[in-house]
Amino acid sequence: MTKTSNQMWGGRFSAGPDAIMEAINASIDFDQRLARQDIEGSRAHAAMLAAQGIITDSDATAIREGLLTVLSEIEGGKFEFSKSLEDIHMNVEARLKALIGEPAGRLHTARSRNDQVAVDFRLWVREQCDVVDQALDGLIRALLVQAEAGADWVMPGFTHLQVAQPVTWGHHMLAYVEMLARDRSRFADARKRMNESPLGAAALAGTGFPIDRHMTAAALGFDRPTANSLDSTSDRDFALEFLAASSICAMHLSRFAEELVIWSSAQFRFVMMSDQWSTGSSIMPQKKNPDAAELIRAKIGRIFGANVALMTVMKGLPLTYSKDMQEDKEQVFDAADNLMLSLAAMTGMVETMTPQRENLRKSAALGFSTATDLADWLVRELGLPFREAHHVTGALVALAEGKGCDLPDLSLADMQSAHAGITQSVFDVLGVENSVASRLSYGGTAPTRVREQIARWKEILG
Ligand code: ARG
Repeated sequence: MTKTSNQMWGGRFSAGPDAIMEAINASIDFDQRLARQDIEGSRAHAAMLAAQGIITDSDATAIREGLLTVLSEIEGGKFEFSKSLEDIHMNVEARLKALIGEPAGRLHTARSRNDQVAVDFRLWVREQCDVVDQALDGLIRALLVQAEAGADWVMPGFTHLQVAQPVTWGHHMLAYVEMLARDRSRFADARKRMNESPLGAAALAGTGFPIDRHMTAAALGFDRPTANSLDSTSDRDFALEFLAASSICAMHLSRFAEELVIWSSAQFRFVMMSDQWSTGSSIMPQKKNPDAAELIRAKIGRIFGANVALMTVMKGLPLTYSKDMQEDKEQVFDAADNLMLSLAAMTGMVETMTPQRENLRKSAALGFSTATDLADWLVRELGLPFREAHHVTGALVALAEGKGCDLPDLSLADMQSAHAGITQSVFDVLGVENSVASRLSYGGTAPTRVREQIARWKEILG
């Protein structure tokens, strides 16, 4: 099956590609998402070529205006993408040629698709860092609203998913604020590092034309041009860093989603998810399933998968560009889309979920959750070494367990059977409210501390 050879690079070829070759080689089906960035990069390049006297001003003007026409055709859905033109770069250039004729052929002076794709993709990923940052900001704000409403609501804190100590709802919400804020700083960090322009690295070695890479870097909002042309065309760290930050962020969302799944179950009833974010069952009429939370819990699979996939693609590649690297885009697009979807869904759920204050409170008292408070009391009031206090408390927990009651339900005589020095005032520390109020150490769960942290975050977010 022969076709005419490629109109862009087909000079030395006598026949066109086999259909399967075209199918495996073409990236236009997915890299058309880079159209705007591609055109932005080309417009900056053309302006620079003219400023440097490499092409004429009138050619540059024709190119720059023609590119705007191409962009509006693409954005208006009036553009016909062609597989035989392989990718977005050649689709745009071919259309430009059809529109403006000969000057279009001068655009690719001192440039290669290798630096072109590196520029386009960096611009896309850079923009995505900003989009994700905005979404994280929205989710953090939603969590702060929840935290503020329930700054002093008592709930069980868990280790090993076993009741550990009472904590506050606000404190729990703020834990996710901390995680998501670290995510923001990871994206911001990656963005800073990726903000260098590879344009002008050309195929791999730089160019003999008197280009001005600082000019194109500035025009595209980059901090500076990249310093090594080989690295410029072979580097995909920016995409990997984006995927790494996305993976950690998706992992955080997955953990929160898992908590929402548990919390909304009949056994827990810590939160009621709104109808908007739940689905029913086709057979069990009573069901209200937390599908959105479950899907968010699962999304880490494809997002971290993309990270692993691209890392594996890049591993062992010799410098500089190899076609392997074309496999970068679908991974990043898919991860970015699904991270954004997860963030939006999570924000919607957090905004509309209703914490069940009474159930949280009841549940906080289960499982001898104030045993540590009792041990601390023995240390503070009776001067026992903590290890001994731990032992005495353990005996009292066993006693209560045997009686089928809770620690505050034991009598003073019961208490004294474990240690004669125990007095009535021990009962003051066995309530869950007292317990959380006493955790005043910096970063602790006491409502006072939680409110301080909420105020701090509000100030940071402005
Ligand atoms: N479609 C290619 C990619 O996504 C663009 C760069 C192609 N360069 C080349 N020399 N074939 O990586």
